[in-house]
Amino acid sequence: MAIVAIDGPAGAGKSTIARALAKRLGVQYLDTGAMYRAVTAEALRTGRHLDDSSAIGSLARECDLHVGLDLVTIDGRDVTAEIRTPEVTAAVSIVAAHSSVRTEMRRRQREWGDARGGGVIEGRDIGTVVFPDAALKVFLTTSPRVRAERRVAQSGGDVDQVEMAIVERDRLDSTRPDSPLAESSDAVVVDTGHSSIDEVVDQIVALLGERG
Ligand code: DC
Repeated sequence: MAIVAIDGPAGAGKSTIARALAKRLGVQYLDTGAMYRAVTAEALRTGRHLDDSSAIGSLARECDLHVGLDLVTIDGRDVTAEIRTPEVTAAVSIVAAHSSVRTEMRRRQREWGDARGGGVIEGRDIGTVVFPDAALKVFLTTSPRVRAERRVAQSGGDVDQVEMAIVERDRLDSTRPDSPLAESSDAVVVDTGHSSIDEVVDQIVALLGERG
């Protein structure tokens, strides 16, 4: 089993689809957004300046980070719930823009994939930069409005405000110089706005079958 890269913007349904796909294929799944979120949670807790690339880079290199299916820990602290708080969500794009952090996260992600001989990996730059030779690259997306409506259905809030926050996070993620959010030229683009989770998973499994 090789790498299946699932990339796309916030709220496109990546986590739900990537988890379901990994289960269907009987392989492991890595949420790389959770890695950036855990580093952000620890940076906030320890009062580091978010724009201090050197301090946050040291934290990224030195921390003991575990991202499992249902448990995320950093330096032994369970941050599974904390990484989904609005504070972390608002700060994560700043932390994820530092090359010092990205270099280390990419190293850990490649190590994860190599140790398992593959798996389903979800993020923003998996097909473009982390695993450019992935067996299959899928770019999941849909309109900011639909993404905002989904987030509100999951966790509440005002749809206009959530949409504005999503558009801003997309902007930050796609304009950073180091490995920005972008479709790989060889990715299959899937609009998740009009299909159920099962339909998208079926489509990805069929694509994998076609590629042998
Ligand atoms: O997928 P998510 O919302 O949990 O991702 C959180 C943030 O992490 C997102 O704003 C961008 C960043 N990220 C990244 O830069 N590269 C990745 N491979 C995954 C996430």
